[in-house]
Amino acid sequence: MIRWLDSRTGLITALKDFLTEDVPGGAAYWYVFGSATLLVLTVQIVTGVILTFYYSPSAQSAWESTKFIYQHVYAGSFLISLHYWGASAMIVLMSLHLLQVLLFGAYKKPREVQWVVGVLLFFIVLSMGLTGYLLPWDLNAYFATQVAINIAASVPVIGPFISNFLSDGSTLGTLTIGRFFGLHVWATPLAILGLVGMHLFILRHNQPAGPPEDIAPKKIGRFYPDQVFYDAIASVLAFAIIVLLSIFMPAPLLGKADPNNAQFIPAPAWYFYALYGLLRMFPQNMSLFPTVILPGVFTMVLLLLPWLDRNPSRMLSRRKAMLSISVLSVATIVGVTIYSAKIIGAEQAKSPVGQTPVVGYGAPANAAQEGPAPVKLSAAGPPGAAPASGQSVFSANCSSCHGANGQGLPGAIPPLAANAYVAGNPKPVIATVVNGMHGQIKVNGAAYNGAMPAWKGKLGPADIASVISYIRSSWGNKAGPVTVDQVKAQLK
Ligand code: HEC
Repeated sequence: MIRWLDSRTGLITALKDFLTEDVPGGAAYWYVFGSATLLVLTVQIVTGVILTFYYSPSAQSAWESTKFIYQHVYAGSFLISLHYWGASAMIVLMSLHLLQVLLFGAYKKPREVQWVVGVLLFFIVLSMGLTGYLLPWDLNAYFATQVAINIAASVPVIGPFISNFLSDGSTLGTLTIGRFFGLHVWATPLAILGLVGMHLFILRHNQPAGPPEDIAPKKIGRFYPDQVFYDAIASVLAFAIIVLLSIFMPAPLLGKADPNNAQFIPAPAWYFYALYGLLRMFPQNMSLFPTVILPGVFTMVLLLLPWLDRNPSRMLSRRKAMLSISVLSVATIVGVTIYSAKIIGAEQAKSPVGQTPVVGYGAPANAAQEGPAPVKLSAAGPPGAAPASGQSVFSANCSSCHGANGQGLPGAIPPLAANAYVAGNPKPVIATVVNGMHGQIKVNGAAYNGAMPAWKGKLGPADIASVISYIRSSWGNKAGPVTVDQVKAQLK
């Protein structure tokens, strides 16, 4: 029957051809990361497809349908968690694969295009992390994505187009979920499959690179069964780790996205911590460095590496400069990631509002039965209550975005400290806080193009007056207070 199938299709011969492949220098555990990544990609596709059976992409139903999967779909929590941990595993394995290729000098001639396709895959998979992050539509999904879109918007020239395309409106909502869903489920996976096919095709064209030596090794291993055996062991191990994590640390789902919860401190996915740490290290007026220039240079150097590194040798002993640069880069990325984790952890510990999951790892027992924890709109109470001090209104409503000291976040949120607009004519400042703000602005030489919600209806006139008086007289701003009547005039 197999012979019949082969005579009609040629599939069996093709598979045999595919499996009979030499591995220069013999099979080795060094080479397992690529195929382990491929296995996890398969896990992501299978779990992702099943998730779309239940997930409903709209602002009214995204969070609810995600919670439904946890609570009512058979093994739903396990399914979501496989997808959640699979994403991290894919990025870890892909990074190890990239480092192995870097270490072995396998990007060198004639494998330049192979390398470029791999680097593209790396960034496209990272973008999958970004688009998938919004879909559960919980507090962290919402605010972390808002920051990401604000950063995209601050990129010169093309920024506004990118952010308009991604958010499809001035606030995040159903249209934004639609965009992210379409990208995450259709466009990006298609690109990934195409590039993976290309990556494998080119691999077969050039043969595997083998050990980091300049003379072709005499020993030749077989892809099947030698390397396939090692690959299978690594893949099973990776899968086992994902399964164990999914059982013991199921993916957390926080309370539903609520644009008014200004005390919530969002965190990006761990693989973006390094970028976030960079943002926090640079002053506001140099925000182009962490948002555009450094990531851009990093990307270009990675893409062009086969042409930048003209050293023809692949031997480790002859590539000391390259190896030192690589070790230094990895150490820097790990260091900034740890630094970033520390700041985020400290800030979340100070303002833990909304950080307790409703379901998943860390959720209190029985929390699943309740709805999302009620979110306090403002420490100052509902409109009409006695006014709170400007400082407490600020820390309850504004500090999560603008920072405890009004310092903002480079590329995403403008500083209020030492801000001439804030300390200038009170009328536009009141209008900004009352009606919100979006669109391109410039503060102290740095451009922003994010969105701030309107505060009318959420804060009473007295609280608005006191918070504006507070920001106008703090952190280097020296302007007089505004009165409740001035605010009321704006509210009309
Ligand atoms: C969700 C995050 C967020 C919160 C919460 C927030 N802001 Fe903003 N704010 C922004 C963003 C983003 C901008 C810039 C909008 C743009 O780029 O057009 C901004 C702009 C401003 C500006 C104008 C600055 C300038 O130089 O033009 C003022 C003033 C301001 N916010 C005050 C406040 C006050 C007061 C509060 C609390 C009541 C607050 N913000 C809460 C995100 C936020």
